[in-house]
Amino acid sequence: MSEPIQVPTADAAQLQRLQWLRAELHRHAHQYYVLDAPLLPDAEFDRLFVELQHLEARFPTLVTADSPTQRVGGKPLEQFESVRHRVPMLSIRTETDTEASGALHFDARVRRELGLSVDDPALEYVAEPKFDGLAMSLRYENGILQQAATRGDGEFGEDVTRNIRTIGQIPLRLPSGVPAVLEVRGEVYMRRDDFEALNASQREKIAGGARLEKTFVNPRNAAAGAVRQLDPAVAAKRPLSFFAYGLGDLTQRPEGKLWFTTHMQMLQQLRQWGLPVCKLVAIAQGADALVAYHARIGAQRDSLGFDIDGVVYKVNDLALQQRLGFVTREPRWAVAHKYPAQEQMTTVLEIDVQVGRTGKLTPVAKLAPVFVGGVTVTNATLHNEDEARRKDVRVGDAVVVRRAGDVIPEVVSVLLERRAEGAQPFSMPRICPVCGSVAVREEGEADYRCSGGLFCSAQRKQAILHFAQRRAVEVDGLGEKLVDQLVDAGLVRTLPDLYRLGLTSLTALERMADKSASNLLQALLDSRQTTLPRFLFGLGIRHVGEATAKALARHFGTLDAIMDGSEESLLQVADVGPIVAQSIRTFFDQAHNREVVEQLRGCGVTWTEGPPQASARAPLAGKTFVITGTLPTMGREDAKALIEAAGGKVAGSVSKKTHYLVAGAEAGSKLDKARELGVAVLDESGLKELLSGST
Ligand code: IVH
Repeated sequence: MSEPIQVPTADAAQLQRLQWLRAELHRHAHQYYVLDAPLLPDAEFDRLFVELQHLEARFPTLVTADSPTQRVGGKPLEQFESVRHRVPMLSIRTETDTEASGALHFDARVRRELGLSVDDPALEYVAEPKFDGLAMSLRYENGILQQAATRGDGEFGEDVTRNIRTIGQIPLRLPSGVPAVLEVRGEVYMRRDDFEALNASQREKIAGGARLEKTFVNPRNAAAGAVRQLDPAVAAKRPLSFFAYGLGDLTQRPEGKLWFTTHMQMLQQLRQWGLPVCKLVAIAQGADALVAYHARIGAQRDSLGFDIDGVVYKVNDLALQQRLGFVTREPRWAVAHKYPAQEQMTTVLEIDVQVGRTGKLTPVAKLAPVFVGGVTVTNATLHNEDEARRKDVRVGDAVVVRRAGDVIPEVVSVLLERRAEGAQPFSMPRICPVCGSVAVREEGEADYRCSGGLFCSAQRKQAILHFAQRRAVEVDGLGEKLVDQLVDAGLVRTLPDLYRLGLTSLTALERMADKSASNLLQALLDSRQTTLPRFLFGLGIRHVGEATAKALARHFGTLDAIMDGSEESLLQVADVGPIVAQSIRTFFDQAHNREVVEQLRGCGVTWTEGPPQASARAPLAGKTFVITGTLPTMGREDAKALIEAAGGKVAGSVSKKTHYLVAGAEAGSKLDKARELGVAVLDESGLKELLSGST
C-alpha cells in the first residue's frame, strides 16, 4: 500500500511571512516600475522575490493569482495610453548562479530538452551583454516608426512614442524592403558619461536654487525617468541610447521565404536596416564558449560605456528556438547569467573618523559585513563633512553600498523609510579623535585636518607606513599591524627610530618571534640603499607624489640642492606649480624635518646622486594623457610612470583638455569619446615614439 501524499500546510508564522512578502513586493514593484523611485537595491528585491517563490513552491495551494510571482510587474502610469503587445514581451529566466557553472547548467538543460546526447556536437549560441536599462518595443509599419511601448506587464505596456522619437539613435524610418510590420525589441539605456554629465548639470541647477531638479542614483533610473517623462521636451534633453536584441510582431516574407534562420542573422539584418546592435554580441559554440564569454565581458564590465548586469545566452537557430518553446512567460532557449551585484543593502554600525598621514580626518561608515561586487565590504568612505551631510548617513541606518571594479566602496543612498526614530545626524568632531589636538578646516578646503602633526600618533603611524611602502624606501614586512605595535609601545616616534631598533626591544613585543624580529632588522638594513626619488617620496611631503619626486631628483640631482632650492628654482621643475613649490619649501624650512633627514643619513640611508639635469628634456611637458584598454607589453602603471617622467600628466577621463588617448586592446567608451572630440589616439608604439621625442 502506498503512503497517502502529504500536502504540507503552512504554520501561522509562514503564512504571515508570505503575506508580508507579497505586500512588500507589490509596494516595491510600484516604486520601481511605476514611480521610477526604487527604495531597495535590485539584489534585495530579488532576494525577497526568491524567498516568496520558495515559500509558494513549498505550499502551492497558497499561490494566488495576484501574487507578485504571477506577473511581470508594473502597471502603466495613468497618464500614458495603454498599448496591447500583439506578441507578448517576455522576460528571461535568470540563472542565479553567478559562477561559470551557471552557463553549464543552461547548456545542459537545453541539450536535455532537445534530447541530445554527450556525443552530439556542441550547440551554437549567441551571447550578448545584458543591458541595464528598460525594455522597449518599437513598432514599424511600412518602415515608419509608429509606436514605441514599454514592457509594462508583458501584455500591456505604455505608449511612450513621443519620448522615444527624441532618441537620435532610433531610426524614425527604415530603408525600403523591410517587412510591412516589424516590431523591434531592445533596451533603452543611458551611457555612463551621459549619466555623469546629466547629474552634474542637475547638481548645478540645484545649487542655482531650482529645487525641483533631482539627481539620479544610477543610469537605469535616469533612463527610466526620461522614458516616462510626460513632457517630451524634457525627455529630449535626457541623452538616451538604444540596443536592439530581438523581435516581436513580424510580417512574413512573401512566397514562404524566411527573413532569417538564425538569431545572429536577424541581428545583422537589424543592423543593416539602421538599428543599433551592440558590437559585443558574439557566436559561442557550446558551453565552454559561453563560460569564456561570461568571463571576457565580466573583465570589461567596469570599463564599458554603459552598465550591464550580466550576459544573455540565446540558442542561435530559430527553428530550434521554436522547438524549445516557452515555460509560462520565459523562453527555454534563452537565459540571463548575472554578475555579482554591485549594490547591496546593509546597516551602518558606526561612523568612525580616521586620521591620515597629512592629518586629514575622513569619516568612514563601519558596515555590517556585506558581499558586494565580489568582495566582503565592512567599510565605506564618506569622504568629508560635506559629503557625509549631503548623504545624511546616520548610525543604525540601512544603506545601499556600491562597489564597482576596484573603486573603493561607497554609500549610494540611505533607506530613509527604515530609519529608526531618534537616529542622530553625524557631525564632524572638532578635535582629532586620536590625539585630541584641534582639527581645523581651512577656507576653501573640504577637509578637516588634525593640527597635531607628528605629535599625533595616527599621523606618525601613517608617515612610517608611507616611508616603508614598496614604492618608497621599501621596508619589506613592515605593515600596519607592526607599525601600530612599534608606535604604541613607544619604540618608534620618528623615522630614524626605525633604524635604531634592536633585537631585544623587538622580541619584547607581543607575538614577535626571534625569526620575525631578525627578518625585520634585515629588511631595515636592506632598505638603507635606496634612490633619491624613493627617499624624497617617502618623506611624505604634501603634494609630492612619485612623479614629482622623480622630476625633482632629475632636475636638481642632489637632496641638498632640493632642500635649499628657492621657490623660483623649484618652479622650474616640470609639473611643479606654486602650491607644490610652497609645500616643499615649507617642509624643508622646518628644522625638525631637516633633522629627520640628517638622522636618516646618519643611520646609513643612502642613494647615489647625480649631476643636475635642469635642462633635462621633458618632451611631454604640458600634455595630458588618458590610458585605456590593454597595452601589448606595458602595464598601465608603467605607461603612466613613463609619461610622467617625461613631464606629461595622466588623467582618468577624456575631455576637451586631453591631448592624447593611449588605447590598447578592448578600449571602450573612452576611445569613442576621444574620436568624438577629435583627440589624437596613440597605440603603444605611438606612445614610445612620442616618449623618445621623435614625433
Ligand atoms: S532578450 C524573450 N536580450 O533583460 C527574450 N533581454 O528579463 C526577451 N535585457 O526584459 C529578452 N539585455 O529588458 C534580452 N541582450 C538582451 C538583453 C535583455 C537586457 C533585459 C530585457 C528583459 C530583461 C530580462
